[in-house]
Amino acid sequence: MSALLRPVQASDHAWLLDLNERHVEVLSPLDQARLEALLGWAHEAWVITDSGRRASFVLTFRPGSAYDSENYRWFSAALDDFVYLDRIVLDDGFQRRGLGAQTYDELEARLAGVPLVLEVNVDPPNAASLAFHAARGYREVSRLGPPGKQVALMRGPGGAA
Ligand SMILES: CC(C)(COP(=O)(O)OP(=O)(O)OC[C@H]1O[C@@H](n2cnc3c(N)ncnc32)[C@H](O)[C@@H]1OP(=O)(O)O)[C@@H](O)C(=O)NCCC(=O)NCCS
Repeated sequence: MSALLRPVQASDHAWLLDLNERHVEVLSPLDQARLEALLGWAHEAWVITDSGRRASFVLTFRPGSAYDSENYRWFSAALDDFVYLDRIVLDDGFQRRGLGAQTYDELEARLAGVPLVLEVNVDPPNAASLAFHAARGYREVSRLGPPGKQVALMRGPGGAA
């Protein structure tokens, strides 16, 4: 926990579902039941704050959970250990102000050699997210999905090969 990150609480759920819905094209649909399932499987669930205001949320998953995401399953088969980062979305007005970079700085600093992994939409492309992750040294390790709904699976610069 830090000035930037605090755990998701029940009182955040309505805000979080609304934020997800407004950015659903780069995330995936979420309702209360699915949110509770995700929180049960997640390793960590953070609200990202900016001077006390809620700016974003982010979930992480470790190997061995029942998370039914195809992308998470791919990493589970490919890597012995990882931290899978899911669903970071900065609300309108909070983007391109360094909050994403600060969040990754904190998460990466706690990895202790374990790679941070995630997926980014490439077809259609999520240009902002691709630029953000490229700037941080993330590299594509595979792709999943059919044309028109394809993601790049990426891993961060830290961790053993
Ligand atoms: C992608 C996202 C997490 C990046 O976080 P952010 O706080 O906006 O990014 P930062 O301000 O920390 O940017 C750090 C660097 O990333 C790159 N970058 C970030 N946004 C960018 C954009 N829209 N276009 C080009 N480069 C970008 C730049 O190199 C930037 O450094 P600079 O501002 O000094 O040029 C955020 O914009 C977001 O939540 N977007 C909407 C939801 C989404 O796409 N989530 C990712 C799903 S995989």
